[in-house]
Amino acid sequence: MSFVIRSETAADQAAIGELTTTAFLTAAHASGTEAAIVRDLRSAGVLVLSLVAIDPADEIVGHAGFSPIETDMPGRWFGLGPLSVAPALQRTGVGSALVRAGLAQLSDQGAAGVGLVGDPAYYGRFGFAARPGLSCEGVPDAYVQALAFEEPPVWKSIVFHPAFFTAK
Ligand SMILES: CC(C)(COP(=O)(O)OP(=O)(O)OC[C@H]1O[C@@H](n2cnc3c(N)ncnc32)[C@H](O)[C@@H]1OP(=O)(O)O)[C@@H](O)C(=O)NCCC(=O)NCCS
Repeated sequence: MSFVIRSETAADQAAIGELTTTAFLTAAHASGTEAAIVRDLRSAGVLVLSLVAIDPADEIVGHAGFSPIETDMPGRWFGLGPLSVAPALQRTGVGSALVRAGLAQLSDQGAAGVGLVGDPAYYGRFGFAARPGLSCEGVPDAYVQALAFEEPPVWKSIVFHPAFFTAK
């Protein structure tokens, strides 16, 4: 299937919410709050990059959100997530294309790197990895992964936006 990736518009917001809910319905480790996280990040003004994948029928079939993370590592760091692909199209390359497009844009904008909490078996292909010293409170270190555009002298802890914890 061919698809186009672009930034979200205001008209996409409801469809992104529905897609996010549907994508995570059967996902392992889902909290059920993923759509609310996207909504709350947006209303807090910190959904700094929100990419959608659009199919030939103009439907939103994938979404990736990026928001700032706090860390003592130098430079600007961003968190990836939630990442959602319509169930019928999972494992057809949509998620990978969204991740790669987001990484390219953030790198072009001078970001230092991107962090996430997720399955290393999936995110390793993009260059994400657990690193000695990289941590996120409450998450086993193996699932805390980062990719640096500018390698930090020392890996340190990262803190995601409060919306990840408060969204309902
Ligand atoms: C996880 C998700 C975003 C991946 O996107 P996708 O478009 O389905 O995946 P892609 O087609 O880009 O990548 C496919 C590859 O990733 C692997 N893969 C897909 N989902 C995976 C997962 N959850 N764990 C491990 N590997 C996975 C596939 O086996 C495939 O590997 P291959 O290239 O070696 O054959 C998507 O499946 C999804 O929306 N899942 C439900 C929500 C979710 O779990 N989001 C991520 C939370 S961290």
